[in-house]
Amino acid sequence: MFPPPLPSDSICGYSRLWYTFDDTNTSRQQIMPLTPADWHTRFTRQAAWTRALRAYLFPRAGLANPKTRRVLEVGCGTGAILAELPESVTLAAGLDLDFAFLSLAQRSDSRARLTQGDALALPYADRVFDAALCHFLLLWVADPLQVLRGMARVTRPGGAVLALAEPDYGGRVDFPEELAALGAWQRESLRRQGADPLMGRRLAGLFHKAGLKNVETGVLGGQWSGFPDWEARESEWAVLESDLTQTSETVSIPEVQKLKALDRSATERGERVLFVPTFYAWGRVV
Ligand SMILES: C[S@@+](CC[C@H](N)C(=O)[O-])C[C@H]1O[C@@H](n2cnc3c(N)ncnc32)[C@H](O)[C@@H]1O
Repeated sequence: MFPPPLPSDSICGYSRLWYTFDDTNTSRQQIMPLTPADWHTRFTRQAAWTRALRAYLFPRAGLANPKTRRVLEVGCGTGAILAELPESVTLAAGLDLDFAFLSLAQRSDSRARLTQGDALALPYADRVFDAALCHFLLLWVADPLQVLRGMARVTRPGGAVLALAEPDYGGRVDFPEELAALGAWQRESLRRQGADPLMGRRLAGLFHKAGLKNVETGVLGGQWSGFPDWEARESEWAVLESDLTQTSETVSIPEVQKLKALDRSATERGERVLFVPTFYAWGRVV
């Protein structure tokens, strides 16, 4: 049985700057760029949200099979997922555009073999991997079909291609109602950054178009108990604030602060619901 994974309640932005707000003053203050170590903390948290999904998918897709030794993660970031590949994997190849991220990934797992490069032009020979996967990547790339076709090309016949987590912000649920504006703001912000906020719903079709067979798709579930971790939510807010105020002409800083205060008070009352459907898909290479 598929154990429902941890809640996908991430605001899940991915912008390059970290801003914060002085609560007594509505001026925006740039503190500093988010460091690679900050991103690693964030990516590690996201990897924890999808751990139960991997525990379900890896055996199904053959990644837990001792014969699956060479695995590629495209857009591996700081290596949060590479470090959690099954022990039987002997080569954990990772590719990312960001050299600073790759430096951290090298430290996170001795099996890692890292390459700086573009997911749209994978620099590997055909059929060299037993499996290729990605995690929170496809929404950020200009042509996700091209990326999936590349992943299929570098995977041997019979191997698996997996997209472990692609959010769909069009299906975002916010409660109380006053917080519903956040979803629309976030979609606008992501579009302005060149991302596709509706990637999740497109995933199944893209897998079929890429020629993958026996495609299985699904959505991560959610369970909540007790009060959400506001400290974790603060970090999500910092990214959202940065994204919104950087990219939106229609959202003002006081509006953002008002919604943040509402979010916090609803969270403290135990009323807050935030759910972003996050899709996965995998298929076989023929
Ligand atoms: C949201 S992060 C996810 C990182 C990692 N997969 C994880 O889950 O911890 C997206 C990653 O994709 C990388 N990325 C974005 N576009 C890329 C491209 N065209 N080629 C390679 N990497 C890319 C970014 O540098 C970043 O590390």
